Amino acid sequence: MNFSIEHFAEIAENGVANIKYPSTTPGLYAPIVYAMASGGKRLRPALCLAVYAALSHRAPEDIINQALAVEMFHNFTLLHDDVMDRADIRRGQPTVHRKWNDNVAILSGDTMLSMAYGLLADGAGDRFASLFEVFNRTAIEVYEGQQMDMEFEKRSDVTVSEYMDMIRLKTSVLLGCACRIGAMMAGASDYVCDAFFNYGEALGLAFQLRDDWLDTFGDPAVFGKEIGGDIINRKKTWLLITCMAEAEDEIDGILREDLEPQEKISQVKRVYNRLRLAERCQELTERYSAQAADCLTNVELDHDARDFFTELCTKAAARSH
Ligand code: IPE
Ligand code: IPE
Ligand code: MG
Ligand code: MG
Ligand code: MG
Repeated sequence: MNFSIEHFAEIAENGVANIKYPSTTPGLYAPIVYAMASGGKRLRPALCLAVYAALSHRAPEDIINQALAVEMFHNFTLLHDDVMDRADIRRGQPTVHRKWNDNVAILSGDTMLSMAYGLLADGAGDRFASLFEVFNRTAIEVYEGQQMDMEFEKRSDVTVSEYMDMIRLKTSVLLGCACRIGAMMAGASDYVCDAFFNYGEALGLAFQLRDDWLDTFGDPAVFGKEIGGDIINRKKTWLLITCMAEAEDEIDGILREDLEPQEKISQVKRVYNRLRLAERCQELTERYSAQAADCLTNVELDHDARDFFTELCTKAAARSH
């Protein structure tokens, strides 16, 4: 078995390319094809496939539909998230609501959610009931996290602990769910399913911390999204929360001032740099990525599989897109 992220991402990519869409109502499906074909790292389906392969020693393609269900769901959340975050660029190209409009992003997104459940069921046999329970619970948690994320934009007293809870819901549980589905499809014990869920969840915390870091300090050409959107939207990232705790009046003044977006972003970054927030955020990210690797200590795995899951933690914390 080839245990590399590229290998599993390629299987997912081929699966995405083979998804069939109805030829009716092209206005509904064209944005879905556009979003699904626009690249992306395919991290969640790759995780799902890798966990299944590691535990069952069978071909990852066996569970391609369940892996694609997670990817379809993820892309659905992105269509709606980009409306909510007023984001214009994703994966280096215009977001669906910018290329079409908000209504299209809402309705094509809804369709993707339904298609995700269809994919989850396809080939799951009598495992479907338990997969549905896990998937549906995760979906609701993602919406809870997204609601908290929006509410936090309006609040200035958000704590780091509230932030960690919010990113656990909006991002981490889906990575955990991807791992759990792979383990369930392999027929793993509850103990192993839980261990892999915990792995994905901790990996997801590192992943979102790094996403927030990249939103401020990333290279837009590589990241594929606009830089500084979180600052403009007053997203309560670890960076902003910590900055507010350590330089409240100064950061408040900048955020309130009527400045051009680029000027506001550079002024905020200047304060972040003075407080060494990039380095400190990165230290925290690496702590969670190390914690993720520890979750698998008591799970029996071949060497190459264990190395794969450990290295993925390091990569998630150091990624540039
Ligand atoms: C973006 O996820 C949303 C977050 C949870 C940060 P990814 O960074 O996995 O997006 P793609 O699918 O690779 O574009
Ligand atoms: C994404 O958080 C979480 C979900 C899409 C559920 P972000 O809003 O930070 O993701 P990006 O940066 O737009 O990809
Ligand atoms: Mg968002
Ligand atoms: Mg967003
Ligand atoms: Mg982001």
